[in-house]
Amino acid sequence: MSTKADTVTKKGYDVEELRAQFPILKELVHGKPLVYFDNAATSQKPRRVIKAESAYYATINANVHRGVHTLSTKATEAQEAARETIRQHINASAVHEIIFTSGTTAGINLAATSLGQLLLKKGDEVVISGMEHHSNIVPWQLACERHGATLKVIPITDSGEWDLKQVPFSDRSRILAISHVSNTLGTINPVKKLIAQAKKKGIVTVVDGAQAAPHLKIDVQDLGCDLYAFSGHKAYGPTGTGVLYGREELLERMPPCQGGGEMIDTVTLEKSTWAKLPFKFEAGTPHIAGIIGLGEAIRWMQDYDLDAMAAHEHTLLEHATKELLTIDGLRIIGTAKEKVGVISFVIEGVHHYDLGTLLDQQGIAVRTGHHCTQPLMDRFGVSGTTRASFACFNTIMEVDAMVAGVKKGVKMLR
Ligand SMILES: Cc1ncc(COP(=O)(O)O)c(C=O)c1O
Repeated sequence: MSTKADTVTKKGYDVEELRAQFPILKELVHGKPLVYFDNAATSQKPRRVIKAESAYYATINANVHRGVHTLSTKATEAQEAARETIRQHINASAVHEIIFTSGTTAGINLAATSLGQLLLKKGDEVVISGMEHHSNIVPWQLACERHGATLKVIPITDSGEWDLKQVPFSDRSRILAISHVSNTLGTINPVKKLIAQAKKKGIVTVVDGAQAAPHLKIDVQDLGCDLYAFSGHKAYGPTGTGVLYGREELLERMPPCQGGGEMIDTVTLEKSTWAKLPFKFEAGTPHIAGIIGLGEAIRWMQDYDLDAMAAHEHTLLEHATKELLTIDGLRIIGTAKEKVGVISFVIEGVHHYDLGTLLDQQGIAVRTGHHCTQPLMDRFGVSGTTRASFACFNTIMEVDAMVAGVKKGVKMLR
C-alpha cells in the first residue's frame, strides 16, 4: 500500500522498488493489503535472503567443518563467508571475534553465564538500565544469583532516556549490560559515552544491539564495547540466527558455556581442551542455512544505503508522531530526541489489546502488550502499549491507514 504521497520521503528513495523485493507484502490479511508494522518483533525477509537459504538446502546441504567431501567444503566456505561479511559490517578487527548464536537472547545468556563465571564474586555488581528487554535483565539476574552479586539499575527519565546523572557505578561494578536502542521506546542510547565511562573504571561492557542492527551502522571498535549481541531475524535475516561479537582478548579468557562437538580441541575421558575462537563458543551443528541467509541479508542491506533507509524510517516516525498526537487522550511513551522508527502509545479508555485486534481486522499488524519490558511499563505506570515499528519498506500511506484505523478503533472502543 503506497502511492505518490511517498515522494514526501527522501528524494531518490525508491520504496516501490524495495517493496517489490518482499514477497510477503503481496499477502492479504482479512482481505486487506498487509500493513506490517511489527518489524521490531521480526522483520520481513527480502527474496534474496529466502533464496539463499533454500539454495543451501537444494544444492550444498552438508555439515560444516567436518567432512573432506565437496559439499561439506562448500557449506563451510558459505558459512565462513557470512562470518566475514558480518565482521566487516560491524567493523570487528578479526573474523574469529564473530560467534554465531540463535539470537540476541542466546548471545546475552552466553555472555552472562561466561562472564559471571569469569568475573563475578560475592558483593560484586552488574549495572543494567531500566529500559532493558527481559533478555538483558533475566540472564544477569541468574548470573547474580549464582555468584552472590547484585543488579544495579540506571533510572529512566520521563522522555525515555537514561538518567546519566544517576548511573550507579561503584568500585564493585564489574559488568555494564545496556541496550543500544530500546525496543519499546525507540530511544537511541548514548552507548559510546557510557562505555567510555565504564572502561575508565575497568568495567566490562555488553551491548544488546537487537534493535540497532536493523537501523544503524554499527562499529564495535568505535563504540569500544567488549561484547555486542544482535539477532539476524530483526535485520532482514532468517529466524534462529544471531551474532555475539566479542573482543578477542576477553573471549580468550571467557570459559565456554556449552560443551559438545566442534568446540573442543582434545577430549579424553578425564579432561577436554577447547578449540580456538570462535569455535570454542559454537558447540554442535549450527543453523548453517540461516547463517548463509543472514550473510545475504547483510549484503542486501549493504547494497542499499543504510543511512537512506534510516532517513526514510525517520520520516515515517515523524509523520506517525504528528498524526497520532491529533487523537484525543493519546500519549506517546518514549519521546527521546534520538529515536529509530518505533512508536509506542497508550490511549485513555482504550485497551491496547482491543485496539491491536481491531487494527488486525484492517490488515494492520502492530504489537501490543509489555514488549518484554515489564519494568519499563512499571516505570511509566502502564500495563502495556500499542507499538508500531517501521522498516525500510513501509510507506506514509501505510502510516495514514494505521492512524485512520486507530481513530476508528477509538470511536468503537470508548
Ligand atoms: C532490545 C531487545 N533485546 C533482545 C531481544 C531478544 O531477541 P531474540 O528474541 O531475537 O533473541 C529483543 C527482541 O525483541 C529486543 O528487542
